[in-house]
Amino acid sequence: SRLLRGAVLTFDDDPGESPVPRPDSLRYWEDGAVWLENGHIRAVDDYTTLAPHVPAGLEIVDYRGKLIMPGFIDSHVHYSQLDIIASFGRELLDWLNDYTFPAECRFAERAHAEEVAERFLDELLRGGTTTAQVFCTSHPGSVDSIFSAARARRLRMLAGKVLMDRHAPEALIDTAVGGIRDSERLIADWHGKNRLAYSLTPRFAPTSSREQLDAVGGVLRNDASLYLQSHLSEHRGELAWVAELFPECRDYLAVYERHGLVGPRSTYAHGIHLSDDERARLAETGANIAFSPTSNLFLGSGLFDRIATREAGVVTSLASDVGAGTGLCGLTTLQGAYQVGALLGQPLTAWQGFYRLTLGNARALHLEHCIGRLEAGHEADLVVLDLAATPLMARRTQVAETLGERLFALMMLGDDRSVHATWASGRPVHQRDASDTHAAPS
Ligand code: GUN
Ligand code: FE
Repeated sequence: SRLLRGAVLTFDDDPGESPVPRPDSLRYWEDGAVWLENGHIRAVDDYTTLAPHVPAGLEIVDYRGKLIMPGFIDSHVHYSQLDIIASFGRELLDWLNDYTFPAECRFAERAHAEEVAERFLDELLRGGTTTAQVFCTSHPGSVDSIFSAARARRLRMLAGKVLMDRHAPEALIDTAVGGIRDSERLIADWHGKNRLAYSLTPRFAPTSSREQLDAVGGVLRNDASLYLQSHLSEHRGELAWVAELFPECRDYLAVYERHGLVGPRSTYAHGIHLSDDERARLAETGANIAFSPTSNLFLGSGLFDRIATREAGVVTSLASDVGAGTGLCGLTTLQGAYQVGALLGQPLTAWQGFYRLTLGNARALHLEHCIGRLEAGHEADLVVLDLAATPLMARRTQVAETLGERLFALMMLGDDRSVHATWASGRPVHQRDASDTHAAPS
């Protein structure tokens, strides 16, 4: 049990797109405090209001001068691609063949999967992210590795085994029957236990047979608590390939619809080149599109029209999509989202950005009852941000006149140097200190 003292910001609702946040959409305490007890939040308030109510001798962690927010959430990321992040620019399908598939082959070895899983969680927490929905590889052991690493750190995490039974290297391919059998074993072992949830993971339409997609739909129909993650309409070459492979479907989304794969717990990464009709159909299901800006910019996939998607009533989430994304830190993702928006005449405000990283993503993943807000009874996952992490940021923060300006500068200039500390389940899981600066090898 501890009391964290610092500035505190948490959202209660979507602040809207205007530079002035919608009233009642957020709460901010300049000298606030968050009381953590048994892995949960006991209370949030002004420090002077809360302090008299805590037991004598309670440890107080002094984060004055820093900003406490709910831990960031990443709705779509590939942990198996950590080591190929920033592999020189080819478009999607070449990038998959040249870098991604070879990297994923190495996860056949359990020791490799375990080592990368630990390093991935280190990096995630270093960037302030406490929950992610994670693509593993087609090897079941890759899922055991990330779930057991997340359990040891008491993280809330979603993950799943990649299902792909065609159009990939032999070493990565499963079968319609075998892939489902492995997924069912993983669901039995991990889903709904500790803070873990299983997400069925057909990679994308081109790498699954109709039989495999059908079988995934069957598993999903039997358990409404399962998640599903895949890719949709990311790149023009991909769209043409899907049309060729599934001539019976009128568009890309129809492939997933036909097999029963589109529901409220589905996350589809990208959704850049969707028709109005596809958007309207997505809106009816409650499925969310994971906007992955740094990935879309890196692979040149296209500019995601956030506003059109939103106005069509489609739920959107925000994601790093590492290894095509260029950073795991939520702040890096926000920079990309701002830039994509700016190019479309829809610049992202800091209010909207930080809402998306926290409560917005929690809602998209149906986790708003337990994470995404600093609220009594919620799980104690939080990030402590340093708005003066570099000399330039310190000066910028000093001259900024409003909280909105300071948050915007943090969003545009910040990275993992701005993440002073990260807490999960009420315990410190990352602390930026001298050990963050590594000496050059001699
Ligand atoms: N589409 C299918 N697989 C992938 C992947 O690993 N990364 C991205 N960005 N798109 C995909
Ligand atoms: Fe992806």
